[in-house]
Amino acid sequence: MHTLLLIFTLLQALASPTDGSGTFITDLMSRMTLEEKIGQLNQVNGGDIVTGAPTSTQFGKELTAGHVGAVLNTQGVEKIRALQKTAVEQTRLGIPLLVGLDVIHGYETLFPVPLGLSCTWDLPGIERSAQIAAAEAGTNGICWTFSPMVDIALDSRWGRQAEGAGEDPYLGSLVAQAMVRGYEGSISSDKKSWKKGDIGILSCVKHFALYGAAESGRDYNTVDMSRLRMYNQYLAPYKAAAEAGAGSFMTSFNIIDGMPATGNRWLLTDLLRKEWGWKGFVVTDYATIPEMKTWGVGDDKSNTQRAILAGTDMDMVSECFVRHLSTLVREGKVSEADIDQACRRVLEAKYRLGLFDDPYRFCNASLAQRLTYSQAHRDIARKLTAESFVLLKNQDNLLPLNKGTRVALIGPLADNRQDIAGTWSFSAKPDKYKTIREALAACGDLTLVGCCLGCNVLDDAHQQQTVSKGHGLTPIPWVDETESNAEALRIAREADVIICAMGESAWMSGEGTSRTSLEMPAPQRRLLQQLSALGKPIVLLNFAGRATCLSWESEHIPAIMNVWFGSECADALTDVLTGVVAPSGHLTVSMPKSTGQEPLYYNHLNTGRPVADDAPYQVFTGNYIDCHNGAIYPFGYGLTYTQFAISAPQSTQNGDRDYTVTCTLTNTGSREGDEVVQLYIRRTGALIALPERELKGFQRVHLKAGESTTVTFRLAPELLSVDATEAQGQIIQTSDFSHLDIMIGLDSQKLLTVEGLRSKV
Ligand code: NOJ
Repeated sequence: MHTLLLIFTLLQALASPTDGSGTFITDLMSRMTLEEKIGQLNQVNGGDIVTGAPTSTQFGKELTAGHVGAVLNTQGVEKIRALQKTAVEQTRLGIPLLVGLDVIHGYETLFPVPLGLSCTWDLPGIERSAQIAAAEAGTNGICWTFSPMVDIALDSRWGRQAEGAGEDPYLGSLVAQAMVRGYEGSISSDKKSWKKGDIGILSCVKHFALYGAAESGRDYNTVDMSRLRMYNQYLAPYKAAAEAGAGSFMTSFNIIDGMPATGNRWLLTDLLRKEWGWKGFVVTDYATIPEMKTWGVGDDKSNTQRAILAGTDMDMVSECFVRHLSTLVREGKVSEADIDQACRRVLEAKYRLGLFDDPYRFCNASLAQRLTYSQAHRDIARKLTAESFVLLKNQDNLLPLNKGTRVALIGPLADNRQDIAGTWSFSAKPDKYKTIREALAACGDLTLVGCCLGCNVLDDAHQQQTVSKGHGLTPIPWVDETESNAEALRIAREADVIICAMGESAWMSGEGTSRTSLEMPAPQRRLLQQLSALGKPIVLLNFAGRATCLSWESEHIPAIMNVWFGSECADALTDVLTGVVAPSGHLTVSMPKSTGQEPLYYNHLNTGRPVADDAPYQVFTGNYIDCHNGAIYPFGYGLTYTQFAISAPQSTQNGDRDYTVTCTLTNTGSREGDEVVQLYIRRTGALIALPERELKGFQRVHLKAGESTTVTFRLAPELLSVDATEAQGQIIQTSDFSHLDIMIGLDSQKLLTVEGLRSKV
């Protein structure tokens, strides 16, 4: 009897989460049927919001049958608690659910869209934004965010450029790591930390891989690239995020080497797991298993087999896994060990999140109430939002505006509550934050003489409405152009300064929002032209989720600032327009002179026939007949309300391919401000073609008027090795180059080279 009791106690202890996940999960899996294991690999759509085509799951029945391991798109702490309760109390083994959501740039407190956030170049700030998102989502029932998106996006026609950190792999890697740390850094089973509001949730690095390289910037389109380019230009941020310990990865919609990512074994197993040693679980993107057949690959059953054997662990919404996996096991096409491996990975994530200890730990209504959209969170978001604004032009120091200036506020975003939060803002509570009109009126420093829409967003009513409705938003009202323009001109005539809040509505960037023209949409440009003809100063607040093309505006509008949405955007704009805060964002994407230049990025390879960016057209050289090469506003560019100068940089060599580089930064203007000092390199005499210039360091520095400081960079050997070259068909790392230029600047175009260094290294 005693022996039996002892065995029982021992078994209990083995099953206890506190014993370590290995034993616990092994025990749990030993009690699971094949169907229950497959159920863990099934993610169903809770259906509260739309992030893809509707799915037809019989959710409730599936859940109680133990055929659901995760949900997405369910919102509301009580609703999620009820779901967990069903999973825990009404399934045979009571395994809790993973509850995922696209918490992309915050939950209720919304930061600028990720592209904008990256323009802060403020890594601690970016990490903090992810922590805040985790704290808010993680008390409202969500334990898994489908973020960060780390896809390098060179082509601004691709609307999803909004969701990432832009065009640079070095910056993109650091941002990816900051986000992963922010989301997951506080994952802990120590409940005491939760009282402090440090809540960690699982991140999901997406979209693996190369999704940003869709041909012609058309979403979901073909990707075809060499391994060398993958390694040297695209893969670094995914790898960095894996190294930072991201718990999950999401496959991408595109093909790689002719095979959709979800079924690509080289990608998901050889590279991600074997080469990079990453240990988390892989979820598909929305229905990518059935979508494989539209590429011409297999059918649902064979693609289910391809996906699991490639290294996909969880099926998002398609239910192909629950429909086909057990048959595939019976037929011997997939082994039970393959299922076990995927199931174990999913259960490990649940274990790590503490869900077996307390399935309701993320459903903490009282903490949620305290944390969600708290003043402290909003203050941080307001500061970061102002930091993200990129001042592109400020003729005659039009900005900041003097106290008492009479302003007319015009444009589709001027008094808009819903769109100002930006793409992927499902948890926004528009009633809680201000529109730009309300924020300007509330601040009292400027006199608002009037505010109106002034024009439509786009020339096509169907397009204008569909971009919003398709994502569950109310479209910006469709107006009569003549009447609306006339109203705008009437208001503008009464003002000293016209502020135009124009550009993209929330879902003109994001998923499925490719554009063939990056110009200011036609009706807004027509209104700008009329307003400009009044001869009054105009400030253009260019709302964008990508690099847009502002050639006409740059010529005719005296002040232009890129703004990137967010719940605190209106308050942050008021701070910046009135000069309480200076804008300090720097572009992380190159802004083109013409859409035809896309994909345009600063870190391109040279050609054998290069031509200076501003040189007149020459035949037999790498230029266009009708447009100069180079960006109108380059990567790294951004003005503020003061001016900065840097001295000629110096370097000392610490060892082989190891340098310390310094320069002096001086605030030469009349007020304090922030600057981003950037370090670039060029390597030549290498084994393969390498980019013209590459970012390898940056620092955000704050200086008072007249103040100087020494900025020091360490250029360590690992920053100087080439990520990859090919030798006998193998990709290898190398440091084989003979010349090095080190350059410092305040953007990627105007650079000072360290003198005397351009010798053999
Ligand atoms: C499709 C998108 O590509 C992905 O980024 C998102 O996380 C999922 N839908 C879930 O909404």
